Amino acid sequence: MHFQWYPGHMTKAKRMMEENIKLIDLIIELVDARVPLSSRNPEIDNLGKNKSRLVLLNKSDLADEKYNDEWMQYFKSKGYFVVKVNARNGNGIKQVNSAVMEACKEKIERDRKRGILNRPVRAMVVGIPNVGKSTFINSFAGKACTKTGNKPGVTKGKQWIKLNKNVELLDTPGILWPKFEDQTVGLRLAFIGSIKDEILNVDELALELIKFLREYYPGVLKTRYEIEEVDNDAEILAQIAKVRGCVSKGEEIDYSKAAALFIEDFRSGRLGRITLEFPEKEE
Ligand code: G4P
Repeated sequence: MHFQWYPGHMTKAKRMMEENIKLIDLIIELVDARVPLSSRNPEIDNLGKNKSRLVLLNKSDLADEKYNDEWMQYFKSKGYFVVKVNARNGNGIKQVNSAVMEACKEKIERDRKRGILNRPVRAMVVGIPNVGKSTFINSFAGKACTKTGNKPGVTKGKQWIKLNKNVELLDTPGILWPKFEDQTVGLRLAFIGSIKDEILNVDELALELIKFLREYYPGVLKTRYEIEEVDNDAEILAQIAKVRGCVSKGEEIDYSKAAALFIEDFRSGRLGRITLEFPEKEE
């Protein structure tokens, strides 16, 4: 699902979020482990103040394990509960269950002290488009859980998935709008495919990614494509084009085709596990 974000969309998404947040105690926020900050919208902190917070580093299979651990520490140090997951194959999903219970403990205890018993804690999944919200809800809620229909008068029109006797999950995720103001953020979101490729210059995007990889992951391009990592991004793209057969009969190099293939290699993990932003630089 790719969106173009216009002010109208943002206003609508924000309004929906505000409405739904009123109904819940815990926010399960998905971020992309390759860009854990660029794939967030910090406004969620404002919208979700007074709520319990759990951050999931999703697509952790595509990100560098070393930085996954550093980002876990980063979010913990900011007071979030945090789990790294792979919503696609289910890795880490069990830990999410215990983290949810842990994050809700306080709430359950507070209710108990006030004499409120058996009121389930309610949670909702939020995140920017394409971060894996639907995939996560499917693998987390799975088939074992039963949907509790609408409860007239209380949660009209809302579907809740009963995770266990204490916790219910809103079945539709909250969509956060990415924040594009910053050029670097926009670029990182483009790398992971969260901005429509049609509105991007794919050649430039590829050159930027080559530049990044040469600096932070030297040797990756050489190993993957068996090319020389020369000090010239365009020359590297030309080499990739030749290796990937993006050359016309007249020996002309099809840079755009090569760029698109290369970006796809990155997005699908064929270049290996790569993180695009690092916690120590973001403090
Ligand atoms: P959304 O609801 O937040 O918009 O995201 P959605 O679940 O639709 O997931 C977007 C894409 O990300 C999907 O791929 C999904 O399979 C993939 N994905 C989700 N979680 C993970 C993960 O932990 N690891 C990896 N590697 N991929 C993940 P797609 O190509 O759009 O669809 P499909 O090929 O899976 O059908």
